[in-house]
Amino acid sequence: MAVTPQQAVDAANDAYGRHPGYRALHAKGTLLKGTFTATQQAAVLSRAAHFQGDPVPVTVRVSNGSGHPRSPDYAPDVRGLAVKMYLPDGSRTDIVAQSAPRFPIRTPEAFLEMLRATSPSPAAAWRMPLFLLRHPEAIPCLPANLSALAPPASYATIPYYAVHAYLFLDGQGGSRYVRYSLHPEAGQARLGPRRARRGGRDYLQEEIRERVQRGPVRFMLELQIAAPGDAVDDPRSHWPASRERVSAGTLEITELDTSRERDGDVLVFDPTRVTDGIELSDDPVLRFRPQAYSDSVARRTAS
Ligand code: HEM
Repeated sequence: MAVTPQQAVDAANDAYGRHPGYRALHAKGTLLKGTFTATQQAAVLSRAAHFQGDPVPVTVRVSNGSGHPRSPDYAPDVRGLAVKMYLPDGSRTDIVAQSAPRFPIRTPEAFLEMLRATSPSPAAAWRMPLFLLRHPEAIPCLPANLSALAPPASYATIPYYAVHAYLFLDGQGGSRYVRYSLHPEAGQARLGPRRARRGGRDYLQEEIRERVQRGPVRFMLELQIAAPGDAVDDPRSHWPASRERVSAGTLEITELDTSRERDGDVLVFDPTRVTDGIELSDDPVLRFRPQAYSDSVARRTAS
């Protein structure tokens, strides 16, 4: 039976508790701002406004995947990088990415099972093997994803993957599917568990605040371009490494954003918030996500 968005958010709440005012997942994070500047290659691939080369302002949120707002930063976890771009016509478009390179399942139902299997509880010992028995297709993703759970030295020293395919429409009537990933200019660095623990429960939030005060934090937005026949509606699918990769631009984070999410301001990053020049694929996980996010927003903003 199809799961509902409410059931998805219930599963997150069951795993991490209910925390009024906080996101059901990725509850702990830091808001930042900066700009995104596209390359010429991006303008060739999509007519979208933010890919034409003029810098656009952005809000960025870095986060831990846990639904607990006080999750220790040193705990093994996926990390999130969400970007909201403010377009010249007043509209917005979002990119929502996380640090696990492979997405192991292809339906919202399986996502719920995975959430239950990976949530911190004594039952986790048998839930995970059971989940893998029911979803053996997730097993090949494990090695890459497990190493991505190691605590990073900084939110600025790991890559992030947006998982789903999007259709890019150019100005000449051409189109192709692409996938986004964001790569840190600072290079990759992770910490061993002991060193991460020595940093304290909030070391990632503190580190990123200090880092942006010292100078801009940059990520390169990379596009991997699908070839005919590549699966574009399956978030599990992994296109061959030989597929063309293009640098689409630079995300430059310059300061903390202390103006948002206060005095009733609600900020939502939605992977289906696209703009002219970008269309959604029929990926069932992508199509399900905004409904679950809306339910989480309704709960976190309920007074
Ligand atoms: C069926 C699959 C998924 C479900 C049900 C789900 C659910 C959620 C929910 C309920 C939230 C909190 C939303 C809010 O209150 O604003 C959230 C946040 C988030 N999710 Fe997902 N998610 C799914 C898949 C993914 C995937 C595939 C990615 C990465 C590509 C991802 C990355 C994130 C990030 C980065 C955030 C935090 C955004 C922010 O900082 O506001 N999620 N997710």
